[in-house]
Amino acid sequence: MQAPSGHAPSFDAEKIIADRARAIDASGIRRVFDLAAKMANPINLSIGQPDFDVPEAIKLKAINAIRQGKNRYTPSQGIAELIGPISRGVTEATGWPEPAVMILSGTSAGLMLAMFACLNPGDEVIFLDPYFVMYKHLPRLIGAVPVSVSSYPDFRLDAKAVEAAITPRTRMVIICSPNNPTGTTYTAAELESLAAVVKRHSLLLISDEIYDAFCYQPHVSIAPMLPEQCILLKGYSKTYAMTGWRLGYAAGPKAIIEQMIKLQQYTFVCAPSPAQYAAIDLLHSSAVDMTGHIDEYRRRRDMMVDGIKDLYHVGDPRGAFYIFAQAPGGLTGTELVQRAMAKNLMLIPGSVFSDRDTHFRISYAAAQDHIRQGIAILRELAQQAGA
Ligand SMILES: Cc1ncc(COP(=O)(O)O)c(C=O)c1O
Repeated sequence: MQAPSGHAPSFDAEKIIADRARAIDASGIRRVFDLAAKMANPINLSIGQPDFDVPEAIKLKAINAIRQGKNRYTPSQGIAELIGPISRGVTEATGWPEPAVMILSGTSAGLMLAMFACLNPGDEVIFLDPYFVMYKHLPRLIGAVPVSVSSYPDFRLDAKAVEAAITPRTRMVIICSPNNPTGTTYTAAELESLAAVVKRHSLLLISDEIYDAFCYQPHVSIAPMLPEQCILLKGYSKTYAMTGWRLGYAAGPKAIIEQMIKLQQYTFVCAPSPAQYAAIDLLHSSAVDMTGHIDEYRRRRDMMVDGIKDLYHVGDPRGAFYIFAQAPGGLTGTELVQRAMAKNLMLIPGSVFSDRDTHFRISYAAAQDHIRQGIAILRELAQQAGA
């Protein structure tokens, strides 16, 4: 019915929000940030990105690219000068003879485009709990069904547990090693077992290897074990501390990457041009050596684990920059984090990354001094909780 002229019906912006947006509950993490906003100079062990800056050589390349006018759209799949070396690098690392490669606006874009390209409504996606938050929420955006498989208490990759969760609607399995939020790295034997399951059931495997540089022993990838049914996702965000530059890449079967490129054309359009130019040669550049930073992160991991392992169950974190510790004395993860916040220590409750609320995530992407103070507070909290 038409409203009488001069009396347009009132527009309620709340009412137009779609169910898919409403279905995403970001309240857990928001509560943490709301609490944090009230803290003056917190000891912040909640951060999901490196605390060092982008190496100077990369900054200069980006600045030069901008000055040289590399400021326009690039081809949807990315610039050939970057795709070439990445392709060769992927072949070297995986043995895949001719991987299709596309450049992404971050690994996040790869997760989204792979799901958009391969999932129909009702299709199921399996991943381990605890999980990176997007694995649970992105499938829902397209009406697909996230299926989490518990990896508690030790956060290992159990291929049998994954196989038990497979149904006729399962299309995709996502793994992340080194893992956010647990810091676990999967062994070759675990990956081989999973690869066999994925092959047996003709599934697509997404291997999110964004933390591959932060691996405190040689990194093992599942990609060489699945030459025909794996999308390998890698990113520059964490390795070079350029989370705000939005750059990553996907490699995998041509038929799927082509669809992802088509979808990119109508969504992200292309990855940021100056960032792409800055990343040329990075894979093989001796000018940008990150080993000093990685060694430092290993020291911080050791410091944190050694500082609390007699009082907290911490698993076996060998990568990324996270420890997923169990709250002591029967506390929930949220309760432990609230008590920590009251002492000026910022952490993230495990319920943000999990269907359970028994753990909390510690990030050691922080100065040693803050790690030392964090350890002291965590020890005090465990003792108060009677651990
Ligand atoms: C496991 C995992 N995958 C993907 C991403 C997304 O990273 P980006 O989009 O910056 O490449 C993150 C960021 O925190 C992550 O932890």
